[in-house]
Amino acid sequence: MDITAIKTEPYNDQTLGTSGLRKRISVIKQKNYIENFVQSLFDCLEDFEGKTLVIGGDGRCYNDQAIQIILKIAVANQFGRIIIGQNGILSTPASSHVIVKYEAIGGIILSASHNPGGPDGDFGIKFDNEHGAPAPQELTAKISARTRTIDRFWTTDMPDVDLSTIGEQIFGNTVIQVISSVDDYVEYMQEIFDFAKIKKLFDNGMTFIYDAMNAVTGPYAVRIFEDILGAEKGSVIHETPLPDFGGLHPEPNLTYAKHLVDLMYTENAPDFAAASDGDGDRYMILAPSFFLNPSDSLAILSQYLDTIPFYQGKLSGVARSMPTSFAVDGVAKSRNIPLYQTPTGWKFFGNLLTAGKIALCGEESFGAGSFHLQEKDGIWAVLAWLSILAETGKTVEQLTRELWQKQGRVFAMLQSYEGLATEDACTLMARLNAQIPNLPGTQVLGETITEAFNFAYTDPVTDEQTQNQGICILFGSDKRIVFRLSGTGSCGATLRVYLNKRTTDSDHFNDCPIDALATLAEISRIISDLKKLTGRQMPTAIT
Ligand code: G1P
Ligand code: ZN
Repeated sequence: MDITAIKTEPYNDQTLGTSGLRKRISVIKQKNYIENFVQSLFDCLEDFEGKTLVIGGDGRCYNDQAIQIILKIAVANQFGRIIIGQNGILSTPASSHVIVKYEAIGGIILSASHNPGGPDGDFGIKFDNEHGAPAPQELTAKISARTRTIDRFWTTDMPDVDLSTIGEQIFGNTVIQVISSVDDYVEYMQEIFDFAKIKKLFDNGMTFIYDAMNAVTGPYAVRIFEDILGAEKGSVIHETPLPDFGGLHPEPNLTYAKHLVDLMYTENAPDFAAASDGDGDRYMILAPSFFLNPSDSLAILSQYLDTIPFYQGKLSGVARSMPTSFAVDGVAKSRNIPLYQTPTGWKFFGNLLTAGKIALCGEESFGAGSFHLQEKDGIWAVLAWLSILAETGKTVEQLTRELWQKQGRVFAMLQSYEGLATEDACTLMARLNAQIPNLPGTQVLGETITEAFNFAYTDPVTDEQTQNQGICILFGSDKRIVFRLSGTGSCGATLRVYLNKRTTDSDHFNDCPIDALATLAEISRIISDLKKLTGRQMPTAIT
């Protein structure tokens, strides 16, 4: 087997975003595009020769071909062992777990998460470090810089590797080990949760549906919910991972999992419904005629997580990304545990988790996780909720209403304006930013702005500073608008506008969030001069 250095030209668009590199498949397929990126990544790692690397993916189109390219580069770069999920499949949380379990120096995860799939869809490559945590800022900046100067990569003339059979194969100095995609993760969930206790819910007749959206979690969910916990056969739907997700957009929210939402608002609704995204790190939970807002979910998990024996006495603190609603803040306060506010993106939770400052964290974008592994974890979130239902004997709706009764309901909504011209979106943000000093005291549609700032973060563990993470506009302590640009799109720009409003008037707890937040939504369009700067009047996605 020959190892050769191949000359290459750098691409100038390989800067990492919120979660690694995300591009259209057509971009990824360009000559040496993956080769450049992966070699740039390896060039930024230290002392990896002879060490273990994990490779996983969500199975979307091009996963299989990209993996073969990456394997050749990794072998040429002299990794000692490469652990790879069968058929190249590992969910993001399973990859994170496998990295730690097998003491790898990190892992490459091929996924564009909840972005659309199919041959014309998106593809993504991200790297998790030895803690199974998304590459921290320092490393992503280094890799981005390296992609702009790279002039060679290493590869080999080895044949494609058979990834369908579990076992080991040797190529040069590297052992390639194909492992079950699900076994390690499922065992770990059984260590964390009391499966016997959860099983009683099903034994006592709880009806359940889990929508894997034809994405990566199907095999995990069938094994856990049907085979082990005893949910009725067929409770897991869209359970076969398909390269094009069977035409579904694998993003579990009110827009893209509408079929599930519609079912939950009929008389035939099961007692509990959940769904997860392309790579299995996001979750959505629904109850009959009831949607559990992810920000409320984080608040309730903070209240009850340590009723689960694995977490008893371990709730050191909790963190939310800044745009996540302040519902969890009240719980942290009443429980007297620290609350941290981080920029958007799971990588900012990593240091807090490693340092033991927090036990639990979450984002409004349907992400939650704990110190059990350092990615967000969709199936974990569902199991945590089922455990809490089993521990408390209450329903999702009861627990949520109790939260509202105690501290008011915080309406939370994200309005996304997708596919904007990048220049327009940047101008809008720049103008808004320039207005910040003049905003306090301004009245818009009868609401007075009390504070405005551009969110900056100092990592409490490393003191690393991160600026420009979203423009926050506050109207007293109970109403807020946040503007930021998405960092996960594959082309153009997406403006994210987060709206929050707390009401303590129980007569309004059942208001429709769109109505409750209508004024704030209108204000967001006025103060950003949205129509003039982008030509848009209405969001393209509301979640
Ligand atoms: C989005 C979400 C963010 C999440 C990320 C990866 O990023 O807003 O919370 O961490 O996807 O799942 P954005 O596109 O807003 O940069
Ligand atoms: Zn995801």
